[in-house]
Amino acid sequence: MRVRVLVIGAGAREHALVAALRRDPSVREVFAAPGNPGIGQLAQLEAVDPTSGESVVAVAKKVAADLVVIGPEVPLVLGVADAVRDAGFACFGPSAAAARIEGSKAFAKDVMSAAGVKTAHSEIVDNPAELDAALDRFGPTWVVKDDGLAAGKGVVVTKDRSAARVHAADLLEQGHPVLLESFLDGPEVSLFCLVDGATVVPLLPAQDHKRVGDGDTGPNTGGMGAYAPLPWLPETVLTDIVEQVVRPVAAELVRRDNGFSGLLYAGLAVGEEGPAVIEFNCRFGDPETQAVLALLESPLGELLDATAKGTLAELDAPRWRDGAAVTVVLAAENYPGAPRLGDVISGTGDGSSSDAATVLHAGTAARDGALVSSGGRVLNVVATGADLAEARAHAYDRLATIKLPGSHFRTDIALAAVSNDISV
Ligand code: AMP
Ligand code: GLY
Repeated sequence: MRVRVLVIGAGAREHALVAALRRDPSVREVFAAPGNPGIGQLAQLEAVDPTSGESVVAVAKKVAADLVVIGPEVPLVLGVADAVRDAGFACFGPSAAAARIEGSKAFAKDVMSAAGVKTAHSEIVDNPAELDAALDRFGPTWVVKDDGLAAGKGVVVTKDRSAARVHAADLLEQGHPVLLESFLDGPEVSLFCLVDGATVVPLLPAQDHKRVGDGDTGPNTGGMGAYAPLPWLPETVLTDIVEQVVRPVAAELVRRDNGFSGLLYAGLAVGEEGPAVIEFNCRFGDPETQAVLALLESPLGELLDATAKGTLAELDAPRWRDGAAVTVVLAAENYPGAPRLGDVISGTGDGSSSDAATVLHAGTAARDGALVSSGGRVLNVVATGADLAEARAHAYDRLATIKLPGSHFRTDIALAAVSNDISV
């Protein structure tokens, strides 16, 4: 098998996917649409409207793709994978019906309840007159969410009732229904599983860092950094997550004729009573994927192709290299608010990875021969090492050589794990 793979998306997650596909000898050529300047160093780029099935199918035809891999959630929720499959292409990514596990909180809660999976209790508020009474039924830590896709930024978790109220009232004023949830305590785990129907193949567990500031301070972001694996997570808990959370949900989706095909991402909090689901996502997580794939030894193309074709059960379990990986996000000034864009970036190198560290592009663009910032999360430095401490050192050493005016990053990615400050 020597396949031609088309990756849809434009972030560091897609850059990591493309880089891993390029390491797979069974992959002949990689195309990306729309991609970004960093991805363009590894793959031929094509213009596309990623949210349009017609547009993605046109690119798949143009490049004669054997496999189309859809990175972000928005195209999946809009049914782009259905359009790609209907046009006769193998596609890595769930149908719109199955992508509701991420796109519709009500659907996700219903599936989890039917599958007997532990998750937060929740209520939807769409009438401002009912807000105060609803807030009284939650707390003392309030979790207030935008009931829709919000890229992690529509969530406020706070012990301050008035801050919770302000966020909820803001959302309601914008016409967005508000989701209130009970607070799930405990360290968070992101577990990515390749899923084709009832077959579930877990990848390495990872942890994201959602808050913008060191020590988990400031507002939530799309993710400021991640690491894998999790030295503090007992193997038995990992098995519980696969057996008691992911498999039952995959089976319930099959039972509903909405069988999942692609990457099912379970975001959990591991509390005193065991793991509970914060959310499911219907695609690879960003930035955890950058750390997880840095440790993958098995050929990624083969894994994605088998998932797309429904033959995942025939493959050997993925192999991982020893050691650990850390990814640190370099964000633009003022992210996660309205970030300042268009600043010149230097020090990213030519896209080749040193042994220890690679620079992945998240929000970059080419302008007059220079590389400039074009998104809130601009770059990721991903590094490996014999352990997390070494991977951290490699990542921060590389980051120190990159210049972007006004940019910021967290200095404590994976630090709590290195310091043995996380326990379950
Ligand atoms: P989400 O966009 O739903 O992934 O939420 C973003 C982040 O908010 C999560 O990664 C958690 O850190 C936090 N969060 C969301 N829901 C809850 C909850 N019910 N309990 C505790 N933390 C939560
Ligand atoms: N890492 C968070 C997300 O991808 O949603």
